[in-house]
Amino acid sequence: MTMKQIGELVSESGDRYLPEIYHDETVYEREMDAIFGRCWQFVGHVSQIRERGDYFLSRMGEERVIVTRGNDGDVHVMLNMCRHRGHVLCRTERGNAKRFVCPFHAWTYSADGDLLNAPLAQELAPDMPKGDFGLVQVPRVDVYHGLIFASFDENAPPLIDELGDLAFYLEMFLGRRDVELEMIGGIQKWEVDANWKIGPDGMGGDFYHTPAAHASVFAANPALRDSINGMMNPQSARNIAFDGGHGFNMLFLPEGLPDDYYFPIEPRFLEVPEVRAYFTGIQAEARARLGPRRTSLKITTGTIFPNLSFSPGIFTLRLVLPKGPGRIENWCWVFGYSDMPPVVKAVMHQAYLSVFGPDGCLEADDAEAWTLVTDGTRSRQGRKVPLFAGLGADNRDQDPDLPGYHHHPMSEGVSRAFLRQWRKRMLEAGA
Ligand code: FES
Ligand SMILES: [Fe+2]
Repeated sequence: MTMKQIGELVSESGDRYLPEIYHDETVYEREMDAIFGRCWQFVGHVSQIRERGDYFLSRMGEERVIVTRGNDGDVHVMLNMCRHRGHVLCRTERGNAKRFVCPFHAWTYSADGDLLNAPLAQELAPDMPKGDFGLVQVPRVDVYHGLIFASFDENAPPLIDELGDLAFYLEMFLGRRDVELEMIGGIQKWEVDANWKIGPDGMGGDFYHTPAAHASVFAANPALRDSINGMMNPQSARNIAFDGGHGFNMLFLPEGLPDDYYFPIEPRFLEVPEVRAYFTGIQAEARARLGPRRTSLKITTGTIFPNLSFSPGIFTLRLVLPKGPGRIENWCWVFGYSDMPPVVKAVMHQAYLSVFGPDGCLEADDAEAWTLVTDGTRSRQGRKVPLFAGLGADNRDQDPDLPGYHHHPMSEGVSRAFLRQWRKRMLEAGA
């Protein structure tokens, strides 16, 4: 595929694209290098590896990685591949290990990735340079408010630069308190027949689908409908995009309302007295850290390019991992604070499960839509037909206090930012 052909897959403004980007094998292969081989990607959370030797398995695109708290106390992200003959080194999803022993011929590595022992190598290959055969370290690792990101690109700009103006808003979710978030329960993982870009694009800023795709859920659940109504109104909500391809939908509340309007959780969960009491107790700290303007903003869902989505109202992160052009794995994390009473943590977890868990009410609709977009565009003729993401193209209005490109909440500004960044990355990777 030539650069010209790649450039023609998505228009410069991102308002038109060919569904080939969901199906073409060459495009997919290039994405593995140009996007998953270079971008910063979320791999997990520090609360999963508190102690030295703690580890968990994760993925960067299709690459299997082991994330450890090494003997040196640092976070290591390493390819989960033995350096002898390439066997998958570790298949236990998480745990604590002083060493990793390959099941094939028993090469043994430290939690930092050093090769400690290769049986019989002393006698049979005395000159073997052991130091050259440690696990492959992913060269760039950074931790942002407890979120571990990694990049295969040694020359990637610092993570904070890649987040750009989005970081100002991520504080509302990740920096409300002086206490770091911690994972509640395990990671939920399930597969869907969809291209990997559709979910992050949709969760980043496609509020436009909400009234149609979720109509039956809202008919059955008026409380949920009410909590979402304001998000569709241009007087009270916007769709905000950033140059890095990130974006979100955000509700603007007037200042001066009773405190509970600003709590960072969907209002229906405040019916549980312990939840209300907990968030009442931490509101002063949040206000002091965020200031009055940011305290009055609420993000529903957003995406950090390329494949991490966040839903602050249910304290959830979602990683979308590609498994070929037409299949994904969703991985979801739920968070809380260490000082939350168990009943509050249970409500947080339930809040996530009921909405975006594998059987969540909105998840069921979304997964079906993502599958039917993938399916609907798969045909030889269909995949060559330009599609439209141009809604709200002329509605940009910058707010001097709030960085980013502001759009009508039902616009496709975030989708276009996502597609533009995709195009830029795919072209940057060279011929
Ligand atoms: S492949 Fe791992 S020890 Fe041989
Ligand atoms: Fe949805």
